[in-house]
Amino acid sequence: MIIEKEEILPGIYRIAFEVPLSFIDEAQPGRFIQLEVSHDSFPVTRRPFTISSTSGNSVEIIFEVVGRGTEILAETDEGRSLRLLGPLGCGYRLNPGKWLLIGGGLGAAGFPGLAARTECDLLLLGASSRDKLLTIPGLETAAITEDGSSGRNGLITDLLETVLWDSFGSIALCGPVPMMKAVIEMMPLQARANTQVSAEARMGCGWGACEGCSVPKAGGGFLKCCSDGPVFPADSIDWERWEGIH
Ligand SMILES: Cc1cc2nc3c(=O)[nH]c(=O)nc-3n(C[C@H](O)[C@H](O)[C@H](O)COP(=O)(O)OP(=O)(O)OC[C@H]3O[C@@H](n4cnc5c(N)ncnc54)[C@H](O)[C@@H]3O)c2cc1C
Ligand code: FES
Repeated sequence: MIIEKEEILPGIYRIAFEVPLSFIDEAQPGRFIQLEVSHDSFPVTRRPFTISSTSGNSVEIIFEVVGRGTEILAETDEGRSLRLLGPLGCGYRLNPGKWLLIGGGLGAAGFPGLAARTECDLLLLGASSRDKLLTIPGLETAAITEDGSSGRNGLITDLLETVLWDSFGSIALCGPVPMMKAVIEMMPLQARANTQVSAEARMGCGWGACEGCSVPKAGGGFLKCCSDGPVFPADSIDWERWEGIH
């Protein structure tokens, strides 16, 4: 059941669902849910959303309205029950030590729960404008926007020049594929080996049956975003091939 709904930025919503405690036990950062946004015939398939955070017996997602499914979800009132499947997929390996989080746009939606469970030292955020910047209260943050409306003016790669990569044992990266590829190409090899990326692909089933969510695998073949991921070691992905299909 939806217990809270809030438009946190224009067209971007935070929704909290009441779920069984057994769900919370399994809801590690980086895992996702498949949400039936409508009981009607359209949209036909469930829509995937990263688990943003959990608290007590509630789970939160943060989403942007981009099409009919998310539009319906944004119009759904508190108190309404929706069917959700999950938690699905493999989340982050919660290694000890200091973490650097790097998020592009809605890519930061999964970071609140990750920051709560790790020693997060720095958050780098990039977005087209301040209206798309998903800040996390209490975290040291460096932000950059393409139009300069918040933080520095530029792309997230412009923030990387001053990063002291050796001071982080783990790096989490999430955003559009070209952004993630550009960030990874700027990393020293050791930082790249310490990086986990949260991937997105169009999904059907969400649990490994339909093969509709392929992500090109380093060395050939494909990974299933829904069941091998959505969180992958950065080095396990063939970034050239993946960028080619976006
Ligand atoms: C594992 C996973 C986690 C996700 N987590 C979040 C999240 O936390 N917050 C959030 O806002 N969105 C998230 N998404 C994307 C979200 O699922 C889509 O935005 C949503 O399904 C769009 O549904 P729609 O019916 O509104 O749009 P549609 O009409 O289906 O599509 C509208 C536009 O969005 C694009 N789109 C749709 N689905 C995806 C997708 N999976 N990846 C890339 N582009 C897509 C389409 O190409 C089209 O341009 C996630 C996707 C995956 C696979
Ligand atoms: S969505 Fe069906 S296999 Fe991944």
